[in-house]
Amino acid sequence: MRILITGGCGFIGSNFVRYILQNCAEATVINVDKLTYAGNLANLSDVEREYAPSRYQFLKGDISDKKIVEDVFREFDIEWVVNFAAESHVDRSIDKPEEFLQTNVFGTFRLLEAARKFWLDPASDISKKRFLHISTDEVYGSLDDKGYFTETTPYNPSSPYSASKAASDHLAYAYYTTYSIPTIITNSSNNYGPYQFPEKLIPLIINNALKGKRLPVYGDGKNVRDWLYVGDHCSAILATLERGLPGQKYNIGSNCEKRNIDIVAIICDYLDEKLGLMDGKPRRELIEFVPDRLGHDRRYGIDASKINSDLQWEPSVPFEKGIIETIEWYLNHMDWVEDIETGRYRKYYRNK
Ligand SMILES: NC(=O)c1ccc[n+]([C@@H]2O[C@H](COP(=O)([O-])OP(=O)(O)OC[C@H]3O[C@@H](n4cnc5c(N)ncnc54)[C@H](O)[C@@H]3O)[C@@H](O)[C@H]2O)c1
Repeated sequence: MRILITGGCGFIGSNFVRYILQNCAEATVINVDKLTYAGNLANLSDVEREYAPSRYQFLKGDISDKKIVEDVFREFDIEWVVNFAAESHVDRSIDKPEEFLQTNVFGTFRLLEAARKFWLDPASDISKKRFLHISTDEVYGSLDDKGYFTETTPYNPSSPYSASKAASDHLAYAYYTTYSIPTIITNSSNNYGPYQFPEKLIPLIINNALKGKRLPVYGDGKNVRDWLYVGDHCSAILATLERGLPGQKYNIGSNCEKRNIDIVAIICDYLDEKLGLMDGKPRRELIEFVPDRLGHDRRYGIDASKINSDLQWEPSVPFEKGIIETIEWYLNHMDWVEDIETGRYRKYYRNK
């Protein structure tokens, strides 16, 4: 099985590259990543050592680049695409939306066009092909205290990030209905776990709390997200590739809703317990409420019953376990965080 994974040097992508190589003996992975600020080759140095070049190859490239994308389809005779590549940080999309449109919408379009060109060729067996577009629950907009997003909830995105993801979801589905490209869309809730770039809530709070820096929390801290351990997301993606049906979409969630402020408190308390107080004070005292994010969605809640029943997938890591493993991972990989903070990780590729 020859798989094109885009954005494989980011948080979820790097976890998935490792996961599929370990769990699918027949998988060969081509990872195309532009190495933006969020892409870090060091996330896959173990994979590179263990699987390259026979089962794993990395290509630095932009999914918006027609030649690069077509060359990869042609040269590797790609059978599955898993499209993680995206600009993914909501705050950055509010400051500078353009790159989000370019990568998330136009880049996805380029990949779909390549699939149309190569997979609809009569010599190609379309029944073996899958184009899995990785999306987010943020496309559905915001919920109040009640209700859940189902796969038929109308899209109502609030940020340039979620609007660009919504647009790419529509394109992926349109390529199924119009050209019969076997696209599948997954909409997952918030992920956490190893290798998440330290601008996102959980790694940011761990890192700042370790260093005694202030812990910024938007608004009143009562925004609710469903939290999914990244390893569970990986198993859901593989289940979707193996058993999901073209033209379908699947919500992926963990039935684990938490308020941001409660997550921050859990991290503070664990670090206090493990490392002792920070300058004699509980780390919760570092919490600082900051003006709310523009257009900040209040609550996301996922109904994942379709993937539970149709694909027999269930998450296996409870939040109480996953968050401890995540904190411990960051404690044991502070050099990884330092390399990002100092910008050293950008040199990794140039020095290879
Ligand atoms: N992180 C979450 O909680 C979450 C939840 C649901 C869905 N998602 C989706 O999952 C996917 C991966 O998210 P993540 O958190 O791992 O993101 P990330 O920001 O950590 O990684 C994105 C990766 O894509 C690469 N990339 C960006 N632009 C590219 C381009 N034009 N061409 C090739 N590569 C490019 C980056 O270099 C990086 O390696 C995204 O599509 C995101 O929308 C994320």
